[in-house]
Amino acid sequence: MTIQANNLEVVYPNGTRALNPTSTFFRTGEFTVLLGASGAGKSTLLRALNGLVTPTRGAVQIDGIGELSNKTLRAHRRRTGMVFQQHQLIGRASVLANVLMGRLGYHASLRTLLPFQVKEKQIALDAIERVGLIEYALRRADELSGGQQQRVGIARALVQEPSLILADEPVASLDPASADRVLGLLHSICKDDGITAIVSLHQLEFAKRYADRIVALAQGRIVFDGTPAKLGKQEIARIYGTTPADAQDSPEEEMNLRTGTYA
Ligand SMILES: Nc1ncnc2c1ncn2[C@@H]1O[C@H](COP(=O)(O)OP(=O)(O)O)[C@@H](O)[C@H]1O
Ligand SMILES: [Mg+2]
Repeated sequence: MTIQANNLEVVYPNGTRALNPTSTFFRTGEFTVLLGASGAGKSTLLRALNGLVTPTRGAVQIDGIGELSNKTLRAHRRRTGMVFQQHQLIGRASVLANVLMGRLGYHASLRTLLPFQVKEKQIALDAIERVGLIEYALRRADELSGGQQQRVGIARALVQEPSLILADEPVASLDPASADRVLGLLHSICKDDGITAIVSLHQLEFAKRYADRIVALAQGRIVFDGTPAKLGKQEIARIYGTTPADAQDSPEEEMNLRTGTYA
C-alpha cells in the first residue's frame, strides 16, 4: 500500500520539535531505509505513521483507508506490522504463542481467540516456518538467540498479513552477521509479498545493501531522499554532521566524484 505524510509535524508536550512539517510518499512494495543520527526524528516519524504519536499538524494518508484518525486507526494498524529493536516478546511464552499475538487485530477480543483455532495456529506455523524457526515453535522465546528472537518478531508481524511493515532499528542490538541475516530475511519477505517497508537503521552499509530508497533525517527534517547510489560523502556529512567510520570510499563513490554526478 502507499502511505503519505502531508505536512506532518510533531511537537512533544515538553516543547521538543521532533519533526518539522514533512511531506513524503511511500510507494507500494518499496523498501525504504530511514537514516539519521540519534535524535533526528526517525522513531517519531515511524510512530506518527502508525498513529502511536498524534501529529500536532498535518496528516497521514493511507490508500484505501484515507486520513489516519480515531476512526481509521484500527483498520490501519491491522494492516501494519511493527518490528522493534527490542523484540517485545513474552519471554516465558512459546514462540508459537508469541506469533499468535499478531493475530489479535483480527479478532474483537482476546476471548474470541481462546482457545486458538486450528486455522490460526496454521497461519502462525506457516510464518514461523518462513522465518526458519519451525523446530523452535514450542520453545520458550527467551531460550532463543537475539537474531532468532528478532525473526520471531518478524513472524509475529507477518501473521497480520500486513501491507506495510514499519521497523524501528530492528537489528540495532544484533552482531553484524545476525543483523545481516535478519535484514536479508525481512527484505526478501517484503519483496516476495509486495509489502511496503519503512525501516530505520543506523548502519550505512546495510542501508546501501537493502534500500530501494533512502530517506535521511537530521533535526526533524528530511535532508536526503534518493537511491543508495546517490548517497555520497557530502550527503553523509549532511546527515550525520561528520563522516562515520563505515562510510569509507567505495568504488561507486569514487566514480561519482570523477563524473561529477554527485551533487
Ligand atoms: N516522548 C517524547 N517526549 C519528548 N521528546 C521526545 C519524545 N520522544 C522523542 N523525543 C525527542 O524528539 C527528538 C526526536 O527523537 P526520535 O524520534 O526518538 O529520534 P531518533 O529515533 O531518530 O533517535 C529527540 O530530540 C528526542 O529527544
Ligand atoms: Mg529512534
